[in-house]
This record gives sequence, C-alpha cells and structure tokens, in this order.
Amino acid sequence: MRTPLIAGNWKMNGLSADAVALADGVVQRVAGLDGIETVICPPFVHLPGVAGRLSDGIHLGAQNCADAGQGARTGEIAADMLADLGVRYVILGHSERRQFYGEDDATIAARYAQALGAGLRPILCVGETLEERDAGRTQAVVAEQINGVIDRLGSDTGLGHGVIAYEPVWAIGTGRTATAVQAQGVHAFIREILGERQPGLADTMRLLYGGSMKPANAADLLAQPDVDGGLIGGASLDAEDFAAICAAA
Ligand code: G3P
Repeated sequence: MRTPLIAGNWKMNGLSADAVALADGVVQRVAGLDGIETVICPPFVHLPGVAGRLSDGIHLGAQNCADAGQGARTGEIAADMLADLGVRYVILGHSERRQFYGEDDATIAARYAQALGAGLRPILCVGETLEERDAGRTQAVVAEQINGVIDRLGSDTGLGHGVIAYEPVWAIGTGRTATAVQAQGVHAFIREILGERQPGLADTMRLLYGGSMKPANAADLLAQPDVDGGLIGGASLDAEDFAAICAAA
C-alpha cells in the first residue's frame, strides 16, 4: 500500500512573513489528516523559518540541491545542508529548472545521487511539452527522462527511496489540467518502465501528478489507481486550497 503524498511547491514566492503565515495556515488545516503524507517546499531562504512551524506528518522539502558535495560551488546548496535543516524531500528536474537553467539528465542524476547520499527522498519531475504530446512523443520523453537518471545512478539506484512526479509541461501554471484518463495512462506507463528496470520498484514507488491540480479536480485525479498524490504549485500558495487537495487524497 503506497501512502498518498501531497507536496506543495511554493516556487519563488513569498517573503519571510508570508512563508511563516502560509506554513501556519497549512499546519492548522492539515495536521489532523490521517493516512496521507504532506510536504511543503518553500524557497531555500525560508527553510529555517518554516522548519520550526511544522508538526507531525507535515514534512519539509526543498526545490533543488547541488550536484556535488560542499565546496567551491558558488550559489549552490549541498544536500547535507538541507538534511541538516530537517529537509526530507527534494524536488529535482523540475521543468522550470530544465527550461530556464539548462538542467539535463546528467546534472539531475548527479543531484539525485547527492540527495540519496544525504538521506533525502528525491521527487524526480518528468513530463512532456505540448509539442511533444502533439507529436505523439509523451511516452518516449517520459521514458528518456526516467532512464536518463536510472542509467547514471548505477546498479544500486536507491530509486525506491524516491518519488516520481509526472508534470506535463503544458499543464503547469496554465489551468489546463491533464484529464484523469491522461494522467492515469502516463502513470501506468511509468510503472511499466520502473518494473522493467528493477523488480518491485513499480509497486513501491509513489507517482505524483503535477500540473494545475486544484480542489475542483483533485479527487478525480487522486482516485486513479496509479496516481499516489500530487505536486502542487499555484494552489499550494493558498492554505485553504492546499488543505482541500490534501483532504481529497
Ligand atoms: O511542481 C508543481 C508545479 O509545477 C505545478 O504547478 O501551478 O500548475 O500547480 P501548478
């Protein structure tokens, strides 16, 4: 049985007072929910302030980590620095990192290895653009992105320690959500890939959907057999909306 996971990706939003108020609002509304795991992923600068506001069952996540350990990597944040702050999950390979900062499978795999080495649970983001979907390349793109990390992690991947988030790029921030049938189809395909790579991985690894998941559509998406939760952007910036999605899990 895979425990449902709802993670809020706050992206680059909020000053310190906003972050504390939002974290408090989420805790007030979500802390009592049983049977799900909740993660909130603030910008790096807010991690210490938010860490102290969280209660049981609501975990801290980061939005990236460095592809190397501590040292001469100006501007980067090492995975063990995040673990030291109580971070438990780390989003990796988000389409915005790939699009705006040129992150490719090689650097994402290195970041994934660093996260595992620090005891963090990676949330690996994969997903196709509208052009790729229209060209019938959704499965090929998702397979390339997943295998691009697994191939570089070597034999003992530790993949089972992580989570995969299917985030169709055309649904991120657009209000154009994948249908439940579309999401289930890609999630089922991802499970096939995982099963081909490592026995048992398909059953244990949690697969999240991300891309305009809102209170109005969350229940339908989360009811799908291979959707184990959500990676929430815009709706995570409103405690009521985020709590409503958690309650639907
Ligand atoms: O990482 C989650 C994010 O990309 C989804 O954003 O605003 O479409 O929920 P949004």
